[in-house]
Amino acid sequence: MPLDTETYTLPVARTIADLQAQVTAWRAEGLRIGFVPTMGALHEGHLSLVDLAARHADKVVVSIFVNPTQFAPHEDLDAYPRTEQEDAEKLAKRPAHLIFAPAAREMYPEEFDLSIQVSGPSEGLESDARPHFFAGVVTVVAKLFAAVKPDIATFGEKDYQQLLVVKKLVRDLDLGIEIVAGETTREQDGLAMSSRNAYLTSDERRRASQLYAALNNVADTIKQGASITEAREAGLAILHEAGFDPIDYLEVRDAETLTPLETVTSPARVLAAAKLGATRLIDNIPLEI
Ligand code: PAJ
Repeated sequence: MPLDTETYTLPVARTIADLQAQVTAWRAEGLRIGFVPTMGALHEGHLSLVDLAARHADKVVVSIFVNPTQFAPHEDLDAYPRTEQEDAEKLAKRPAHLIFAPAAREMYPEEFDLSIQVSGPSEGLESDARPHFFAGVVTVVAKLFAAVKPDIATFGEKDYQQLLVVKKLVRDLDLGIEIVAGETTREQDGLAMSSRNAYLTSDERRRASQLYAALNNVADTIKQGASITEAREAGLAILHEAGFDPIDYLEVRDAETLTPLETVTSPARVLAAAKLGATRLIDNIPLEI
């Protein structure tokens, strides 16, 4: 009999012990575990990662945890949207089987001392604007991986540098977890879906699609034979014109290592981060020549 998805709510584990009791039972049945880490305020981008995980696993665990250690003191930790009830309702309509939504004290007990640094792909780009960001992300993802012990985990290309950093964490620690990348889900006008889009005023929301337009302009200009420098200048002009300020970066990088390129080698990636009013937006696209 099909589940009544309107009233069916998913089980929610609040502690690592409860989470592991369920996951251990599944594993004992020989089931493959998929995992989707999130900070909640779920949108179609997150949900597409749940669908993707379900194509690679039998049971899908989704974590909802607004991780304090990846926010700097001046950032939006307190303002970050928390919509757990709506998130649970959305997940109940997708192939998700368990929500892990711990309190901060469960993840970071008072005596917590661990911080993991990944160099390589974490250097530059986001780290220039947010120096403590990746240590916070990597530490919480490592802790979540240790709690869930998934066979596979899905991460979005929307946060491309984060995706590479997590892959590096798995490789360097030999965690044996398959990291499956999900394509960026976009609004009709091209704006990448993000929990932070909710902060935009209606005027900013109209202009926000120019971030994606600028990325495409850089890629197209390079494909037409322009240099990276020329293409970046044209892209920056689009961002200035749309009112983005400051522009943290608009870069063309090697898609596997994120090292800077003088001339385009394939596969490359065009990546940008910039503020529109009070909201910082990030996005990236592939560049294949
Ligand atoms: P969060 O921003 O909630 O994103 C959770 C996952 O959803 C990430 O893998 C992110 O890349 C992906 N995602 C976000 N927007 C997307 C979109 N428009 N299309 C496809 N995927 C998208 O990223 C984090 O949380 C945190 O840093 C986390 C990894 C959970 C660690 O705290």
